Amino acid sequence: MSRLHKHLVITNIAIMIVPLLITVIVASAYIFVSFTIFDTSISSESIKNLTNVEYELFKANSGTFQKNPEFLLDKDFQKNLTIRLSSINTDIVIIKNSKTVYSSKDFSQMAIERCLDFSKHNYLRSTVDLDGTPYIVKVINQTFPDTTVGYVILLAQIDKDVIASKDFIIFVIVMFFLTFIITNLILTYSFSKSMVKPILRLKDAASEISCGNLAHEVVVEGDSEIRDLCQSFEQMRLKLKESVYTQAKFEDNRKMLISSISHDLKTPITSIKGYVEGILDGVANSPEKIEKYLKTIYSKAVQVDSMIDDLLFHSKLDLNQMPFNFERTDVYNFFRHCIEEIEPELEKANIKIELINMLPDYRFLFIDRTQIRRVVLNILDNSKKYMNKENGTIEVTLREKDNNIIVQIKDNGAGIPKNDMPFIFDKFYRADTARSTKAGSGLGLAIAKQIIEGHQGKIWSISKENEGTSILFSLKKL
Ligand SMILES: Nc1ncnc2c1ncn2[C@@H]1O[C@H](COP(=O)(O)OP(=O)(O)O)[C@@H](O)[C@H]1O
Ligand SMILES: [Mg+2]
Repeated sequence: MSRLHKHLVITNIAIMIVPLLITVIVASAYIFVSFTIFDTSISSESIKNLTNVEYELFKANSGTFQKNPEFLLDKDFQKNLTIRLSSINTDIVIIKNSKTVYSSKDFSQMAIERCLDFSKHNYLRSTVDLDGTPYIVKVINQTFPDTTVGYVILLAQIDKDVIASKDFIIFVIVMFFLTFIITNLILTYSFSKSMVKPILRLKDAASEISCGNLAHEVVVEGDSEIRDLCQSFEQMRLKLKESVYTQAKFEDNRKMLISSISHDLKTPITSIKGYVEGILDGVANSPEKIEKYLKTIYSKAVQVDSMIDDLLFHSKLDLNQMPFNFERTDVYNFFRHCIEEIEPELEKANIKIELINMLPDYRFLFIDRTQIRRVVLNILDNSKKYMNKENGTIEVTLREKDNNIIVQIKDNGAGIPKNDMPFIFDKFYRADTARSTKAGSGLGLAIAKQIIEGHQGKIWSISKENEGTSILFSLKKL
């Protein structure tokens, strides 16, 4: 049984049990108080007596003389009626045309007037005190055969206990209904507080979300299951918000990508166009000049080519279209080969490169060699590109830390301005100085980051402007 179900069942039972219980307790207290303080005993006997009297009076009310009013004036009928009623201690007074035509007991005119007057104004209570004796009075309007009007008054003599019993019964009934209504109100209120209110709140939140307002927080409250519902709803909202945010970020990225590509590709292509025009127009009028122009055109074309390569590579990584091919690799040898490959190129730029191996033994790693090679070349390419010293040096250090091998590539080049540091691994990000002086796609480090993260590693940088840059990355050991 769900907790919600239980709650409903308990509420329903409580609506019946609580008023009953309260009524029983209060009724017992009532009996106790009336007995000890007012010295009246409410017994089943007196209640029975009372119901008996009430029943007889009711019977009399709808009895024979109602249908056959002529009997009322018949002496024998009056006598029989008197005998019958005397068994329940009841007297009868017949009034015709404001005159008493029969009375089983000698009542004063004043007492009769009081009875008539009383019955006109009291609907609930019909007990009247006549000369110190309490009576239940029933006044019946009567039309006689000769169309004159009058009354039949029935006066049932009762004792104190019976009156108390009558009051008691009324009290119990009123008490029960009162507690029933109050319990109902309280339980309905608590039900609405724990169920209806949270549901209404959820409804509001849902309509807010459907209007696109994802900032509207759902208050988690109410009974367990409603609470769970609120919680799930809130989670859904947060997920939705997140996905909307990511969507927007993707969209921004795409826009930036397009504007960056168009801008960065335009620069070399514009200059290619210029040089080709120079040749066509005959500005390059000697074979040496033409050769110089063609060389420039070639290098610009290489730039465009490598930018497009970067772009393609990056988008493939982004789309997860480049599955990693992990192979067991000897770290030191691997980095040695990478360095040997780029060394001649660096030498031309007067940069010395050194590999420092601080690994105690040979270490093996599971890496995708082609990809990690690309990372190393991207980083070394930057070191070369942003070198501003006569004697450039690059140190590649292999180190071990905890469960990782750390590769540090340190140069003594231009360094990265502090403000640019947080962004150098972002796509298309290039420091202003780099943008204005060197060609590049701004994707080199972004690609490196993607690859390293694909190896469950981390990449970061330490740099001081004008002194140099260190790019470090970690690779998990076997
Ligand atoms: N070794 C370095 N020395 C100085 N600046 C660097 C170095 N490496 C990276 N940077 C800065 O980080 C930016 C991002 O590098 P990268 O993603 O490779 O793009 P790109 O080389 O095409 O400019 C560069 O534009 C440059 O400003
Ligand atoms: Mg680069």
